[in-house]
Amino acid sequence: MSKFTVLNHPLIQHKLTIIRNERTGTRVFREVANEIAELMVYEMTRDLPLEDVEVTTPMGKSTQKTLTGKKLAVIPILRAGLGMVDGVLRLIPAAKVGHIGMYRDEKTLKPHEYFVKLPSDIDQRELFIVDPMLATGGSANMAIEALKKRGAKKMRLVVLVAAPEGVKSVQEAHPDVDIYAASLDEKINENGYIFPGLGDAGDRLFGTK
Ligand code: URA
Repeated sequence: MSKFTVLNHPLIQHKLTIIRNERTGTRVFREVANEIAELMVYEMTRDLPLEDVEVTTPMGKSTQKTLTGKKLAVIPILRAGLGMVDGVLRLIPAAKVGHIGMYRDEKTLKPHEYFVKLPSDIDQRELFIVDPMLATGGSANMAIEALKKRGAKKMRLVVLVAAPEGVKSVQEAHPDVDIYAASLDEKINENGYIFPGLGDAGDRLFGTK
């Protein structure tokens, strides 16, 4: 069974409350969603491996720490996942960015893949798949499958708000993919939205409706 971790640092909880508020407009929503993603990645990368390097300071030679050449990539699930990319890149500016597009069939409600563009060395990278909302887990599961089919080996799923149903579904389908959320909410309502959630993340990020 994969790990599910709620990263509930006080700053993350405070910022999540701001974007949950229905009165928060597009500009602030966009900025704060990225700030939360940035703080989450800060917490998630505590275990990145370090190695020694020689550095000459103005005072002389010394041995210090640097990150080992671990390769990362951020994979937003379109479209709402785009709202977390800048936040991740603020901390890991050298990460490559791949994109996965999914749409939901209006009749079957099942997700379908319509666009996949990934770094060529995806099998050698650790992937941070980002999507603000983990509701049923349908599109996350499909994105993970699409990545595995193309050679991805090591992935983590990073969401702002998770519903218990989605966490269970991803853990069952992909026991090798750890999940990180800023909050575990109550449930999915009868319209497929997370409650209390924050509404439609894509619409709120891009000002559409
Ligand atoms: N997608 C959203 O944007 N919001 C939800 O609450 C669930 C899925």
